[in-house]
Amino acid sequence: MSFTKEQINFLREAIVPYMSEKRYAHTLGVEEMAKRLGSICLADKVSELRCAALLHDVAKELSDEESLMLLAEYAEISEEDLLSPPAFHAFCAPIVIRRDFPEYATDDIISAAFKHTTGGEDMTLFNLIIFLSDYIEEGRAYRECTALRERLFAELEKAKGEESAAMIHRAALSELQATVAHLKEKGRYINPRTQRAMESLLKKGYTAL
Ligand SMILES: [Fe+2]
Repeated sequence: MSFTKEQINFLREAIVPYMSEKRYAHTLGVEEMAKRLGSICLADKVSELRCAALLHDVAKELSDEESLMLLAEYAEISEEDLLSPPAFHAFCAPIVIRRDFPEYATDDIISAAFKHTTGGEDMTLFNLIIFLSDYIEEGRAYRECTALRERLFAELEKAKGEESAAMIHRAALSELQATVAHLKEKGRYINPRTQRAMESLLKKGYTAL
């Protein structure tokens, strides 16, 4: 699926009321990063990646209560997912996208938005680009994020053909491992989707970057 420049520009304006200035700046950073990574290894889906990036946090400013109300109607949520309030906005994003932005509700965009916080089993390259762009966009200043961004682009410079997609998988694995380590350190709940995302990358033979 591809979107025109006008559709992307429209969406960039349409999401403004859904988020704070700070989150909007982050969202534009994710769009830019998704465009950059997509041009390297998923060129036919760059416009769709940009729309997914613009929409990924569209439910982020809902309260837990509002999110739970939406989730009560969403059948694919498990008991375990209800233990992950920080991921509610990702689980709610497909509902908000289908309701308010139906013309952008493609399978790729819906699934990338759903998986952008916890990850999930068998993530597609499209899913991984959004997941990773959220973590390494230029506005992220945490050392883990900036270091991974630098490592990834250094590798992408040298990569040929298929190797760049493999680098995205490896960088996503690094992100997942860093996230799990961080959650463990803070004594916070780790959603099984995150564990499954890591396992499925490891099973495919990827190593962290
Ligand atoms: Fe985000």
